[in-house]
Amino acid sequence: MKVIVCDNYDEMSKKAYEVMKPVLKDGAVIALATGTSPIGLYKCMAEDYKKGNVSYKNIRSVNLDEYVGQGVGDEQSYVEFMRRNLFNNIDIDLKNTDLPNGKAADLEKEVERYNKKLAENPIDIQVLGIGSNGHIGFNEPGTAFDSLTHVVDLTANTIKDNSRFFKSIDEVPKKALSMGIKNVMNAKKIVMVVNGANKAKAVKAMIEGRVTTDCPASILQLHPDCTVVLDKEAASLLTK
Ligand code: F6R
Repeated sequence: MKVIVCDNYDEMSKKAYEVMKPVLKDGAVIALATGTSPIGLYKCMAEDYKKGNVSYKNIRSVNLDEYVGQGVGDEQSYVEFMRRNLFNNIDIDLKNTDLPNGKAADLEKEVERYNKKLAENPIDIQVLGIGSNGHIGFNEPGTAFDSLTHVVDLTANTIKDNSRFFKSIDEVPKKALSMGIKNVMNAKKIVMVVNGANKAKAVKAMIEGRVTTDCPASILQLHPDCTVVLDKEAASLLTK
């Protein structure tokens, strides 16, 4: 695991883009995350595209997760987040983008479809954030390291963290579809972005703690090509 500590969010985003850029070639499969952490990285991707330095015409994307019951047209859905923050700002063909479908009538069938898709489209780079409880995707503490895409009951902690995007905590979906930890670990390369003091404990557990399902992100210690890019606040509890 390579750890890079940056002065601030902007520097963190630029560093993460430096890790990502060499992978952005025709035919690449990129796996994306939602949330506040990667928004700056997505801005760097869009800016570099606008400068003519990279094209996404022949790049495909998948995403980590989606809320059950949410989809295209729902402001807080992850598919709309991706369109707003990235897809509408680059030349990717929406047909080449995929997220778990939170509105699927049969969630188990959707899980099967998504796992098949991931098996057929090996991920060249996986973008990650981390939850304050150490989750990656919506793989909450206790999730098996060999898990594949599955339906998740969100923890009270995650519902509270994510309520900042909704009018009230009651509106936060209680379930999600998430890629599993094994799907994430299968990616050839991983780049994680983390900012803010509220993540410092999870970051310490991920980097300096034991590899344990109590901190799902700790499994990344075993990935052969994982770079974690932190701002100073997120890195503040690290001892090394
Ligand atoms: C989002 C995701 C989550 C977030 C994590 C951090 O697709 O899978 O694991 O990466 O909850 O969220 P932010 O970046 O909003 O702090």
